[in-house]
Amino acid sequence: MKTSEAILTRRSTRVYSDRLVEQEKLEQVIEAGRYAPSGGNNQTTHFIVIRNQEVLAELARLVKQEFSKMEETPGMYKSLAGAIRRSKGETYIFHYNAPVLILTANRIDYGNNIADCACSLENMMIQANALDLGTCWINQLKWLNENAVITEYLRPLGLAEGERVYGALSVGYAKAGLPDRNALPRTGNPVTWVD
Ligand SMILES: Cc1cc2nc3c(=O)[nH]c(=O)nc-3n(C[C@H](O)[C@H](O)[C@H](O)COP(=O)(O)O)c2cc1C
Repeated sequence: MKTSEAILTRRSTRVYSDRLVEQEKLEQVIEAGRYAPSGGNNQTTHFIVIRNQEVLAELARLVKQEFSKMEETPGMYKSLAGAIRRSKGETYIFHYNAPVLILTANRIDYGNNIADCACSLENMMIQANALDLGTCWINQLKWLNENAVITEYLRPLGLAEGERVYGALSVGYAKAGLPDRNALPRTGNPVTWVD
């Protein structure tokens, strides 16, 4: 697949099959993340790749538990409010039961922490699409990145003391086989040309 096609056909996948992701493909996706640019070439983005299904199930349980303790407030970012609301229902699973979840963590004291993680996440999404894998940016662990219960669970998985999670990516084969590749129309993202 050409680079432009991989970019222009990338969509979020939220319904996954339990088909295993081949090691080689997963490594290509992670390598694409590692080759993203970083502010001042810091290269401090830490990729925590979770494939253990028991760990993912426990993380999903804890995320649901911690969100369900929270309340929506007026003016709250709508996706965060939606997560809080859905967490109070029976079926809430923040990572859509994808077989792989890649956390992108970075130094809390580094000013480009979120930007660097975002570059890595986008690189991984494009590479995954080119490999017929579905992905979705998962923000719940960023919203909970100061939550003591979640942080304590993530420490033994490799999250260092001075790091926080700034994003995550679910990865797997779409239930439908191939990821949806019909781009949503661009109605925003204006462009101003200055010639
Ligand atoms: C910063 C950011 C955070 C996002 N967080 C979530 C999320 O937590 N859960 C989710 O299902 N999708 C999340 N998304 C995916 C967006 O909802 C999705 O990209 C958008 O609706 C456009 O759809 P598309 O990716 O299929 O083009 C996020 C995307 C970005 C860029």
